Amino acid sequence: MSRFIHHVFICENRRPEDDPKGCCASKGSPELIPALRELIKQHGLTSKIRINSSGCLANCSRGSSVVVYPEGIWYSKVSMDDVAEIFHEHLLNGRPVTRLLDPKFHADLMERQ
Ligand code: FES
Repeated sequence: MSRFIHHVFICENRRPEDDPKGCCASKGSPELIPALRELIKQHGLTSKIRINSSGCLANCSRGSSVVVYPEGIWYSKVSMDDVAEIFHEHLLNGRPVTRLLDPKFHADLMERQ
């Protein structure tokens, strides 16, 4: 049994600017973690929801990459504009944010919408 209701991994991998793979850090991922942690703190959920920085999640071209467990929901192209929605819809209310689902992993869920 998991200690946390949700465990969120956010890729903070950084590559050189000229690397053709790109990276999540250059797309703003380092800003996402403190923003999400602040919302969790404001709602008194620090013991229930854990946010961790991760290395490359092998989804570089679609970064910033975010994965939420235990559901195994993959979000792609996440920006600061999306943090509040992920927090309120998914982490608080259990409703994954459909518009941010990564189609590589969730084509089935996206078709149902
Ligand atoms: S650099 Fe973030 S998924 Fe690879």
